[in-house]
Amino acid sequence: MTTPRTLTFPRGFAWGAATSSYQIEGGVREGGRGPSIWDTFSHTPGRIIDGSTGDTTCDHYYRFEADLDLMRSLGLQHYRFSIAWPRIFPVSSGTPNPAGLDFYDRLVDAMMSRGIEPYATLYHWDLPLPLQDAGGWTNRDTAMRFVDYARTVTEHLGDRVKHWMTHNEPWVSAFVGNLFGAHAPGLTDLRTALQVAHVIMLSHGLAVPVIRSAGGVGARVGIVQNLEWVEPASSSPEDIAAARRHDGAFNRWFLDPLFKGGYPADMREWYGADAPDVRPGDMEAMRTPIDFLGINYYTRRIIAHDRKGDFLHVRKVAWPFVPRPGYEEWEINPEGLYRLLVRVNADYGRPAIYITENGTPLDDLPGADGAVHDEARIQYLSRHAAAVWQAIKDGADVQGYFTWSFMDNFEWNLGFTKRFGLVHVDFATQARTVKDSGRWYARLCRENAFPI
Ligand code: FCB
Repeated sequence: MTTPRTLTFPRGFAWGAATSSYQIEGGVREGGRGPSIWDTFSHTPGRIIDGSTGDTTCDHYYRFEADLDLMRSLGLQHYRFSIAWPRIFPVSSGTPNPAGLDFYDRLVDAMMSRGIEPYATLYHWDLPLPLQDAGGWTNRDTAMRFVDYARTVTEHLGDRVKHWMTHNEPWVSAFVGNLFGAHAPGLTDLRTALQVAHVIMLSHGLAVPVIRSAGGVGARVGIVQNLEWVEPASSSPEDIAAARRHDGAFNRWFLDPLFKGGYPADMREWYGADAPDVRPGDMEAMRTPIDFLGINYYTRRIIAHDRKGDFLHVRKVAWPFVPRPGYEEWEINPEGLYRLLVRVNADYGRPAIYITENGTPLDDLPGADGAVHDEARIQYLSRHAAAVWQAIKDGADVQGYFTWSFMDNFEWNLGFTKRFGLVHVDFATQARTVKDSGRWYARLCRENAFPI
Protein backbone atom coordinates (compact mmCIF):
# COMPACT_ATOMS: atom_id res chain seq x y z
CA MET A 1 0.00 0.00 0.00
CA THR A 2 1.36 3.42 -0.89
CA THR A 3 0.55 6.37 1.29
CA PRO A 4 -1.19 9.16 -0.63
CA ARG A 5 0.71 12.44 -0.94
CA THR A 6 -2.23 14.42 0.34
CA LEU A 7 -4.01 13.34 3.50
CA THR A 8 -7.69 14.25 3.30
CA PHE A 9 -9.89 14.12 6.39
CA PRO A 10 -13.56 13.10 6.59
CA ARG A 11 -16.07 15.73 5.57
CA GLY A 12 -17.12 17.86 8.55
CA PHE A 13 -13.97 17.08 10.55
CA ALA A 14 -13.65 19.87 13.16
CA TRP A 15 -10.28 21.64 13.12
CA GLY A 16 -9.66 24.18 15.83
CA ALA A 17 -7.53 25.48 18.62
CA ALA A 18 -7.86 25.41 22.41
CA THR A 19 -7.26 27.73 25.36
CA SER A 20 -8.42 27.96 28.97
CA SER A 21 -9.78 30.78 31.08
CA TYR A 22 -7.04 31.29 33.69
CA GLN A 23 -4.31 30.92 31.10
CA ILE A 24 -5.53 33.72 28.80
CA GLU A 25 -8.20 35.92 30.35
CA GLY A 26 -6.51 38.11 32.96
CA GLY A 27 -9.07 40.56 34.37
CA VAL A 28 -9.05 38.53 37.56
CA ARG A 29 -10.83 41.20 39.57
CA GLU A 30 -13.19 42.34 36.81
CA GLY A 31 -16.92 41.82 36.51
CA GLY A 32 -17.33 40.55 40.06
CA ARG A 33 -15.02 37.54 39.56
CA GLY A 34 -14.05 35.88 42.82
CA PRO A 35 -10.65 34.34 43.57
CA SER A 36 -9.82 30.83 42.45
CA ILE A 37 -7.26 28.38 43.78
CA TRP A 38 -4.95 29.47 40.95
CA ASP A 39 -4.96 33.11 42.10
CA THR A 40 -3.69 32.24 45.55
CA PHE A 41 -1.33 29.57 44.24
CA SER A 42 0.29 31.79 41.62
CA HIS A 43 0.67 34.58 44.16
CA THR A 44 2.50 32.30 46.59
CA PRO A 45 6.26 32.89 46.26
CA GLY A 46 8.13 29.94 44.80
CA ARG A 47 5.15 28.26 43.18
CA ILE A 48 5.54 29.61 39.63
CA ILE A 49 8.94 29.10 38.06
CA ASP A 50 9.32 32.70 36.79
CA GLY A 51 7.33 34.35 39.58
CA SER A 52 4.51 35.28 37.18
CA THR A 53 0.73 35.06 37.66
CA GLY A 54 -2.37 34.95 35.48
CA ASP A 55 -3.43 38.44 36.61
CA THR A 56 -3.05 39.88 33.12
CA THR A 57 -1.57 37.14 30.89
CA CYS A 58 -3.03 37.63 27.35
CA ASP A 59 -5.52 40.23 28.60
CA HIS A 60 -8.12 38.31 26.62
CA TYR A 61 -10.89 39.52 28.93
CA TYR A 62 -10.53 42.90 27.20
CA ARG A 63 -9.13 41.79 23.87
CA PHE A 64 -11.38 38.90 22.97
CA GLU A 65 -12.97 40.66 19.98
CA ALA A 66 -9.57 41.24 18.37
CA ASP A 67 -8.41 37.71 19.26
CA LEU A 68 -11.49 36.24 17.61
CA ASP A 69 -10.96 38.47 14.58
CA LEU A 70 -7.50 36.96 14.31
CA MET A 71 -8.94 33.47 14.69
CA ARG A 72 -11.42 34.15 11.92
CA SER A 73 -8.75 35.63 9.68
CA LEU A 74 -6.91 32.31 10.02
CA GLY A 75 -10.07 30.46 9.06
CA LEU A 76 -10.37 28.51 12.33
CA GLN A 77 -14.01 27.53 12.68
CA HIS A 78 -13.95 25.61 15.97
CA TYR A 79 -12.71 26.96 19.25
CA ARG A 80 -12.31 25.13 22.55
CA PHE A 81 -12.29 27.58 25.47
CA SER A 82 -13.16 27.29 29.15
CA ILE A 83 -15.49 29.09 31.49
CA ALA A 84 -14.14 30.46 34.76
CA TRP A 85 -16.35 29.10 37.52
CA PRO A 86 -15.37 31.98 39.88
CA ARG A 87 -16.82 34.48 37.39
CA ILE A 88 -20.18 32.71 37.59
CA PHE A 89 -20.21 31.83 41.30
CA PRO A 90 -17.70 34.13 43.03
CA VAL A 91 -18.95 32.83 46.36
CA SER A 92 -19.56 29.13 46.72
CA SER A 93 -23.28 29.06 46.02
CA GLY A 94 -26.35 31.25 45.82
CA THR A 95 -27.27 33.41 42.87
CA PRO A 96 -25.01 33.48 39.83
CA ASN A 97 -23.11 36.66 39.06
CA PRO A 98 -24.85 38.40 36.13
CA ALA A 99 -21.65 40.15 34.99
CA GLY A 100 -19.87 36.80 34.75
CA LEU A 101 -22.64 35.26 32.66
CA ASP A 102 -22.70 38.40 30.56
CA PHE A 103 -18.99 38.10 29.76
CA TYR A 104 -19.47 34.59 28.34
CA ASP A 105 -22.62 35.72 26.54
CA ARG A 106 -20.59 38.34 24.73
CA LEU A 107 -17.71 35.95 24.13
CA VAL A 108 -19.97 33.27 22.62
CA ASP A 109 -21.88 35.83 20.55
CA ALA A 110 -18.57 37.11 19.23
CA MET A 111 -17.69 33.57 18.13
CA MET A 112 -21.07 32.99 16.50
CA SER A 113 -20.96 36.25 14.56
CA ARG A 114 -17.59 35.19 13.13
CA GLY A 115 -18.71 31.71 12.17
CA ILE A 116 -16.66 30.07 14.94
CA GLU A 117 -18.30 27.15 16.72
CA PRO A 118 -17.85 27.17 20.51
CA TYR A 119 -16.68 24.08 22.44
CA ALA A 120 -16.93 24.92 26.13
CA THR A 121 -15.04 23.30 28.99
CA LEU A 122 -16.68 23.87 32.36
CA TYR A 123 -13.71 23.10 34.59
CA HIS A 124 -10.18 23.84 33.51
CA TRP A 125 -8.76 23.98 37.05
CA ASP A 126 -9.89 27.36 38.39
CA LEU A 127 -11.91 26.20 41.40
CA PRO A 128 -13.55 29.04 43.36
CA LEU A 129 -11.47 29.57 46.49
CA PRO A 130 -14.43 29.34 48.92
CA LEU A 131 -14.99 25.79 47.71
CA GLN A 132 -11.35 24.86 48.33
CA ASP A 133 -11.70 26.31 51.83
CA ALA A 134 -14.59 23.90 52.36
CA GLY A 135 -12.45 20.89 51.38
CA GLY A 136 -12.30 21.38 47.61
CA TRP A 137 -12.71 18.25 45.56
CA THR A 138 -12.31 15.98 48.57
CA ASN A 139 -15.73 17.18 49.70
CA ARG A 140 -18.61 15.47 47.90
CA ASP A 141 -20.61 18.67 48.22
CA THR A 142 -18.25 20.23 45.64
CA ALA A 143 -19.70 17.76 43.11
CA MET A 144 -23.17 19.12 43.88
CA ARG A 145 -21.93 22.70 43.49
CA PHE A 146 -20.40 21.70 40.15
CA VAL A 147 -23.75 20.34 38.96
CA ASP A 148 -25.46 23.64 39.93
CA TYR A 149 -22.77 25.59 38.11
CA ALA A 150 -23.04 23.34 35.03
CA ARG A 151 -26.82 23.76 34.99
CA THR A 152 -26.61 27.54 35.29
CA VAL A 153 -24.10 27.87 32.47
CA THR A 154 -25.78 25.43 30.08
CA GLU A 155 -29.20 27.01 30.63
CA HIS A 156 -27.62 30.32 29.79
CA LEU A 157 -25.46 29.43 26.79
CA GLY A 158 -27.08 26.20 25.59
CA ASP A 159 -28.96 27.92 22.78
CA ARG A 160 -25.57 28.59 21.13
CA VAL A 161 -23.05 26.17 22.65
CA LYS A 162 -23.66 22.58 21.54
CA HIS A 163 -20.41 20.92 22.65
CA TRP A 164 -19.76 20.72 26.37
CA MET A 165 -16.83 19.25 28.26
CA THR A 166 -17.30 18.78 31.98
CA HIS A 167 -13.65 18.52 33.05
CA ASN A 168 -10.21 19.05 31.63
CA GLU A 169 -7.73 16.34 32.65
CA PRO A 170 -8.98 15.02 36.00
CA TRP A 171 -5.64 13.21 36.41
CA VAL A 172 -3.77 16.51 36.39
CA SER A 173 -6.27 18.22 38.72
CA ALA A 174 -6.01 15.34 41.15
CA PHE A 175 -2.37 14.25 41.01
CA VAL A 176 -0.39 17.29 39.95
CA GLY A 177 -2.46 19.44 42.33
CA ASN A 178 -2.73 17.09 45.32
CA LEU A 179 0.11 14.58 45.18
CA PHE A 180 2.98 16.28 43.37
CA GLY A 181 2.03 19.72 44.70
CA ALA A 182 3.10 21.45 41.49
CA HIS A 183 -0.36 22.84 40.70
CA ALA A 184 -3.02 24.44 42.88
CA PRO A 185 -3.91 23.69 45.60
CA GLY A 186 -0.33 22.44 46.07
CA LEU A 187 -0.90 19.42 48.33
CA THR A 188 1.19 16.25 48.54
CA ASP A 189 -0.94 13.37 49.71
CA LEU A 190 -1.89 10.25 47.72
CA ARG A 191 -5.13 9.58 49.55
CA THR A 192 -6.24 13.17 48.96
CA ALA A 193 -5.34 12.91 45.26
CA LEU A 194 -7.37 9.72 44.83
CA GLN A 195 -10.35 11.17 46.68
CA VAL A 196 -10.16 14.32 44.52
CA ALA A 197 -10.07 12.20 41.37
CA HIS A 198 -13.13 10.30 42.59
CA VAL A 199 -15.23 13.36 43.40
CA ILE A 200 -14.25 15.02 40.11
CA MET A 201 -15.29 11.96 38.13
CA LEU A 202 -18.48 11.74 40.21
CA SER A 203 -19.25 15.39 39.49
CA HIS A 204 -18.78 14.65 35.80
CA GLY A 205 -21.24 11.74 35.87
CA LEU A 206 -23.83 13.71 37.82
CA ALA A 207 -23.53 16.70 35.49
CA VAL A 208 -23.88 14.83 32.19
CA PRO A 209 -27.69 14.38 32.22
CA VAL A 210 -28.17 17.88 33.61
CA ILE A 211 -26.11 19.45 30.83
CA ARG A 212 -27.82 17.33 28.23
CA SER A 213 -31.30 18.42 29.28
CA ALA A 214 -30.46 22.05 30.08
CA GLY A 215 -28.37 22.33 26.91
CA GLY A 216 -31.37 21.78 24.66
CA VAL A 217 -31.62 20.19 21.24
CA GLY A 218 -28.36 18.88 19.87
CA ALA A 219 -26.32 19.28 23.07
CA ARG A 220 -23.37 16.86 23.19
CA VAL A 221 -21.47 16.23 26.42
CA GLY A 222 -18.03 14.77 26.97
CA ILE A 223 -15.01 14.85 29.23
CA VAL A 224 -11.36 15.51 28.44
CA GLN A 225 -8.74 13.02 29.63
CA ASN A 226 -4.99 13.38 29.25
CA LEU A 227 -3.79 10.02 28.00
CA GLU A 228 -0.30 8.75 27.34
CA TRP A 229 0.99 5.89 25.28
CA VAL A 230 2.97 3.71 27.69
CA GLU A 231 5.73 1.20 26.94
CA PRO A 232 7.94 -0.84 29.27
CA ALA A 233 11.65 0.03 29.27
CA SER A 234 12.59 -3.63 28.74
CA SER A 235 10.98 -7.02 28.39
CA SER A 236 11.64 -7.89 32.04
CA PRO A 237 8.48 -8.88 33.97
CA GLU A 238 9.22 -6.06 36.49
CA ASP A 239 9.29 -3.38 33.81
CA ILE A 240 6.21 -4.78 32.11
CA ALA A 241 4.33 -4.72 35.42
CA ALA A 242 5.60 -1.19 36.10
CA ALA A 243 4.37 0.03 32.71
CA ARG A 244 1.03 -1.55 33.40
CA ARG A 245 0.82 0.31 36.73
CA HIS A 246 1.63 3.60 35.06
CA ASP A 247 -1.03 2.90 32.46
CA GLY A 248 -3.41 1.90 35.26
CA ALA A 249 -2.90 5.11 37.22
CA PHE A 250 -2.81 7.43 34.27
CA ASN A 251 -5.17 5.99 31.66
CA ARG A 252 -7.31 3.13 32.95
CA TRP A 253 -8.20 4.72 36.32
CA PHE A 254 -9.98 7.46 34.35
CA LEU A 255 -11.32 5.47 31.38
CA ASP A 256 -12.63 2.31 33.05
CA PRO A 257 -15.19 4.20 35.19
CA LEU A 258 -16.50 5.97 32.08
CA PHE A 259 -16.86 2.91 29.91
CA LYS A 260 -16.70 -0.16 32.16
CA GLY A 261 -18.35 1.01 35.34
CA GLY A 262 -15.55 0.37 37.83
CA TYR A 263 -11.99 1.16 38.80
CA PRO A 264 -9.40 -1.32 37.49
CA ALA A 265 -9.00 -4.10 40.05
CA ASP A 266 -5.19 -4.24 39.85
CA MET A 267 -4.93 -0.56 40.75
CA ARG A 268 -7.52 -0.73 43.53
CA GLU A 269 -5.38 -3.43 45.03
CA TRP A 270 -2.19 -1.43 44.55
CA TYR A 271 -3.67 1.66 46.23
CA GLY A 272 -5.09 -0.38 49.12
CA ALA A 273 -6.12 1.84 52.02
CA ASP A 274 -5.46 4.98 49.96
CA ALA A 275 -8.27 4.10 47.52
CA PRO A 276 -11.18 6.56 47.53
CA ASP A 277 -14.40 6.37 49.42
CA VAL A 278 -16.86 4.90 46.88
CA ARG A 279 -20.53 5.13 47.83
CA PRO A 280 -23.41 3.18 46.30
CA GLY A 281 -24.42 4.75 42.99
CA ASP A 282 -21.10 6.51 42.36
CA MET A 283 -19.84 4.12 39.72
CA GLU A 284 -23.24 4.04 37.97
CA ALA A 285 -23.20 7.85 37.79
CA MET A 286 -19.69 7.91 36.34
CA ARG A 287 -20.73 5.45 33.68
CA THR A 288 -23.51 7.70 32.35
CA PRO A 289 -23.01 7.50 28.58
CA ILE A 290 -21.12 10.41 27.07
CA ASP A 291 -21.38 11.73 23.53
CA PHE A 292 -17.66 11.96 22.98
CA LEU A 293 -14.33 11.46 24.68
CA GLY A 294 -11.84 14.33 24.55
CA ILE A 295 -8.23 13.19 24.43
CA ASN A 296 -5.28 15.45 25.19
CA TYR A 297 -2.13 13.84 23.86
CA TYR A 298 1.37 15.15 24.33
CA THR A 299 3.81 12.31 24.77
CA ARG A 300 4.71 8.67 25.12
CA ARG A 301 6.17 7.27 28.34
CA ILE A 302 8.78 4.60 28.71
CA ILE A 303 8.50 3.12 32.15
CA ALA A 304 10.91 1.09 34.28
CA HIS A 305 10.42 -0.59 37.63
CA ASP A 306 12.06 1.33 40.47
CA ARG A 307 11.35 0.59 44.10
CA LYS A 308 12.68 4.00 45.06
CA GLY A 309 10.62 5.66 42.32
CA ASP A 310 7.29 7.41 42.83
CA PHE A 311 4.07 6.11 44.41
CA LEU A 312 3.82 3.51 41.65
CA HIS A 313 7.42 2.30 42.14
CA VAL A 314 8.16 3.36 38.61
CA ARG A 315 10.68 5.59 36.91
CA LYS A 316 10.30 7.39 33.60
CA VAL A 317 13.10 6.59 31.22
CA ALA A 318 14.21 9.20 28.72
CA TRP A 319 15.32 7.48 25.54
CA PRO A 320 18.38 9.24 24.14
CA PHE A 321 18.26 10.60 20.60
CA VAL A 322 14.51 11.20 20.44
CA PRO A 323 13.34 14.74 19.72
CA ARG A 324 12.09 16.82 22.62
CA PRO A 325 12.86 20.35 21.46
CA GLY A 326 10.70 22.44 23.76
CA TYR A 327 10.15 20.41 26.88
CA GLU A 328 12.73 17.99 28.24
CA GLU A 329 10.08 15.79 29.82
CA TRP A 330 8.00 15.39 26.68
CA GLU A 331 9.39 13.23 23.96
CA ILE A 332 7.76 13.86 20.58
CA ASN A 333 6.11 10.65 19.51
CA PRO A 334 3.21 10.84 17.03
CA GLU A 335 3.15 7.04 16.70
CA GLY A 336 2.04 6.98 20.33
CA LEU A 337 -1.05 8.99 19.42
CA TYR A 338 -1.90 6.53 16.64
CA ARG A 339 -1.42 3.55 18.96
CA LEU A 340 -3.38 5.18 21.74
CA LEU A 341 -6.35 5.84 19.45
CA VAL A 342 -6.34 2.28 18.17
CA ARG A 343 -6.15 1.02 21.73
CA VAL A 344 -9.00 3.23 23.04
CA ASN A 345 -11.04 2.04 20.10
CA ALA A 346 -10.42 -1.62 20.88
CA ASP A 347 -10.67 -1.46 24.68
CA TYR A 348 -13.47 1.03 25.16
CA GLY A 349 -16.02 0.29 22.44
CA ARG A 350 -15.14 2.78 19.70
CA PRO A 351 -16.25 6.04 21.34
CA ALA A 352 -16.58 9.24 19.35
CA ILE A 353 -13.34 11.11 19.96
CA TYR A 354 -12.07 14.64 19.71
CA ILE A 355 -8.38 15.35 20.11
CA THR A 356 -8.97 18.28 22.45
CA GLU A 357 -5.28 19.23 22.90
CA ASN A 358 -2.03 18.44 21.14
CA GLY A 359 0.89 20.77 20.69
CA THR A 360 4.47 21.57 21.56
CA PRO A 361 6.33 24.41 23.28
CA LEU A 362 9.20 26.05 21.42
CA ASP A 363 11.49 28.99 22.09
CA ASP A 364 9.57 31.13 19.65
CA LEU A 365 10.91 34.62 19.13
CA PRO A 366 10.13 36.99 16.28
CA GLY A 367 13.18 37.21 14.00
CA ALA A 368 14.70 40.30 12.42
CA ASP A 369 11.91 40.16 9.80
CA GLY A 370 9.31 40.31 12.60
CA ALA A 371 8.03 36.80 11.78
CA VAL A 372 8.19 33.65 13.92
CA HIS A 373 9.67 30.76 11.96
CA ASP A 374 8.58 27.73 13.98
CA GLU A 375 9.31 24.99 11.48
CA ALA A 376 9.54 22.43 14.30
CA ARG A 377 5.92 23.10 15.26
CA ILE A 378 4.80 22.57 11.66
CA GLN A 379 6.62 19.25 11.73
CA TYR A 380 5.00 18.38 15.04
CA LEU A 381 1.49 19.27 13.88
CA SER A 382 1.76 17.54 10.54
CA ARG A 383 3.14 14.34 12.04
CA HIS A 384 0.40 14.22 14.68
CA ALA A 385 -2.32 15.05 12.15
CA ALA A 386 -1.01 12.20 10.01
CA ALA A 387 -1.27 9.89 13.01
CA VAL A 388 -4.91 10.92 13.48
CA TRP A 389 -5.57 10.39 9.78
CA GLN A 390 -4.13 6.88 9.97
CA ALA A 391 -6.16 6.06 13.10
CA ILE A 392 -9.37 7.18 11.39
CA LYS A 393 -8.47 5.05 8.41
CA ASP A 394 -8.01 2.11 10.79
CA GLY A 395 -11.42 2.59 12.36
CA ALA A 396 -11.18 5.22 15.11
CA ASP A 397 -14.12 7.63 15.20
CA VAL A 398 -12.12 10.85 15.56
CA GLN A 399 -14.37 13.81 14.76
CA GLY A 400 -12.08 16.76 15.37
CA TYR A 401 -8.68 18.03 16.42
CA PHE A 402 -7.82 21.08 18.51
CA THR A 403 -4.25 22.19 18.80
CA TRP A 404 -2.90 23.57 22.05
CA SER A 405 -2.89 26.46 21.82
CA PHE A 406 -4.40 29.30 19.84
CA MET A 407 -1.90 31.74 21.37
CA ASP A 408 1.03 31.70 23.81
CA ASN A 409 -0.24 31.96 27.39
CA PHE A 410 0.34 31.39 31.10
CA GLU A 411 1.58 27.80 31.35
CA TRP A 412 0.61 27.11 34.99
CA ASN A 413 3.61 26.48 37.27
CA LEU A 414 5.91 27.09 34.26
CA GLY A 415 4.61 30.65 33.96
CA PHE A 416 5.54 32.33 30.69
CA THR A 417 8.52 30.08 30.01
CA LYS A 418 6.69 27.81 27.54
CA ARG A 419 5.14 29.04 24.31
CA PHE A 420 2.60 26.68 22.71
CA GLY A 421 0.66 29.09 20.47
CA LEU A 422 -0.05 29.34 16.77
CA VAL A 423 0.07 33.04 17.58
CA HIS A 424 2.99 34.66 19.37
CA VAL A 425 2.11 36.98 22.25
CA ASP A 426 4.49 39.68 23.45
CA PHE A 427 3.37 39.85 27.08
CA ALA A 428 4.87 43.33 27.59
CA THR A 429 2.98 44.97 24.72
CA GLN A 430 0.21 42.40 24.11
CA ALA A 431 1.17 42.39 20.41
CA ARG A 432 0.04 39.28 18.54
CA THR A 433 2.08 37.82 15.67
CA VAL A 434 0.86 34.84 13.68
CA LYS A 435 3.63 32.24 13.59
CA ASP A 436 4.51 30.30 10.45
CA SER A 437 2.74 27.33 12.04
CA GLY A 438 -0.41 29.47 12.36
CA ARG A 439 -0.42 30.06 8.62
CA TRP A 440 0.30 26.40 7.92
CA TYR A 441 -2.52 25.33 10.23
CA ALA A 442 -4.93 27.86 8.70
CA ARG A 443 -4.41 26.19 5.34
CA LEU A 444 -5.07 22.76 6.84
CA CYS A 445 -8.31 24.07 8.38
CA ARG A 446 -9.43 25.57 5.08
CA GLU A 447 -8.58 22.57 2.94
CA ASN A 448 -9.34 19.77 5.44
CA ALA A 449 -6.27 18.12 3.95
CA PHE A 450 -2.55 18.61 3.84
CA PRO A 451 0.28 17.47 1.64
CA ILE A 452 2.96 15.29 3.17
C1 FCB B 1 -2.40 20.46 29.41
C2 FCB B 1 -3.39 21.50 29.93
C3 FCB B 1 -3.32 22.82 29.20
C4 FCB B 1 -1.90 23.21 28.89
C5 FCB B 1 -1.17 22.08 28.20
C6 FCB B 1 0.24 22.41 27.79
O1 FCB B 1 -2.14 19.54 30.41
O2 FCB B 1 -4.72 21.02 29.82
O3 FCB B 1 -3.98 23.78 29.98
O4 FCB B 1 -1.26 23.59 30.05
O5 FCB B 1 -1.16 20.96 29.03
